[in-house]
Amino acid sequence: MGFTADHIPYQDGRTAVVTGANSGIGLETTRELTRNGATVVMACRDDRRGVAAARSIRSEIPVADVRVETCDLASLESIRAFADRLADEPVDVLINNAGTMAIPRRETEDGFETQFGVNHLGHFALTGSLLENLRRAGDTGRKARVVSVSSGLHERGEIDFSDLHGERGYDRWAAYAQSKLANVLFAYELERRLRTEGADVLSTAVHPGYADTNLQFRGIEGRGAWLRTAVRRLSNAVFAQSASKGALPTLYAATSPDVEGGGYYGPGGLLNMRGPPQRQASSDRSYDRKAARRLWDLSRECTGVEYDLPVPKQPST
Ligand SMILES: NC(=O)c1ccc[n+]([C@@H]2O[C@H](COP(=O)([O-])OP(=O)(O)OC[C@H]3O[C@@H](n4cnc5c(N)ncnc54)[C@H](OP(=O)(O)O)[C@@H]3O)[C@@H](O)[C@H]2O)c1
Repeated sequence: MGFTADHIPYQDGRTAVVTGANSGIGLETTRELTRNGATVVMACRDDRRGVAAARSIRSEIPVADVRVETCDLASLESIRAFADRLADEPVDVLINNAGTMAIPRRETEDGFETQFGVNHLGHFALTGSLLENLRRAGDTGRKARVVSVSSGLHERGEIDFSDLHGERGYDRWAAYAQSKLANVLFAYELERRLRTEGADVLSTAVHPGYADTNLQFRGIEGRGAWLRTAVRRLSNAVFAQSASKGALPTLYAATSPDVEGGGYYGPGGLLNMRGPPQRQASSDRSYDRKAARRLWDLSRECTGVEYDLPVPKQPST
């Protein structure tokens, strides 16, 4: 039998930060981590939704050690303020989960295309800002972990280095796939830099398969919205697994002793859309180390966040 929430090792003494913790996979991840003794910082962009989600967890798990902190990934200022508030706390697990999918073109506070800005650049800035917290947790002898939540759709993704923000042309699905490929490229490049340093921190990527959450309804607006909503509801009801099952790859990567840095984990059942988590191969493009380094450098330029990590040697080919 594969990994289930019952296999989560006891997390007592560990602190996790979960972005987008008020909904879907982030909420289920928070619930199971806290049920197993972790302290969870719920990093949410909207306090009211965050507090309501924390209340629902506490009503089920009265001893749950959760707290809500504002973190809007569409704002570098909000990310900086969030990291400053956590400055003295070790972070054992950082779950880069928040995301938005296939929305019409918009820009974040800092002028980034929103899907690239929130799904990738926001998490790039957050992880760099919490690096010391992760290192401090790793000092306790148990490796700290960064889990980046990507998507099977990263396989359709290409990084358009000449137009990262879709200013010359924008396709909402291509922009989502680009942002999800960026999640995997980032997770692998981070792992290489952590290994070069010898840090006690691991970086992995995961995907949840297809899970019934609010994600599928984010980009629906305009004419015919009711019809598209109805079709997606039906599709979710027929094909999707529950959000709690969709959270299992994340929970596995965050807690299992079998997890390896640089791994990509997702459901191993039907079309990799459902089933227990297993290690999988990501797309060929996601293993392109030159593209990963180029994306890293551009992400530094965009966000102004510098990682104090050594740069790994580039392969000769
Ligand atoms: N569900 C699936 O089938 C599926 C498949 C592949 C990948 N994924 C990935 O799984 C992750 C979680 O998605 P989900 O399915 O759980 O969707 P969801 O229910 O829509 O949850 C997304 C979360 O991200 C938060 N978020 C959006 N924009 C944000 C911002 N600017 N700053 C901070 N938080 C923000 C949302 O906050 P609000 O509630 O305040 O909007 C919400 O908490 C995403 O990265 C998604 O790409 C999901």
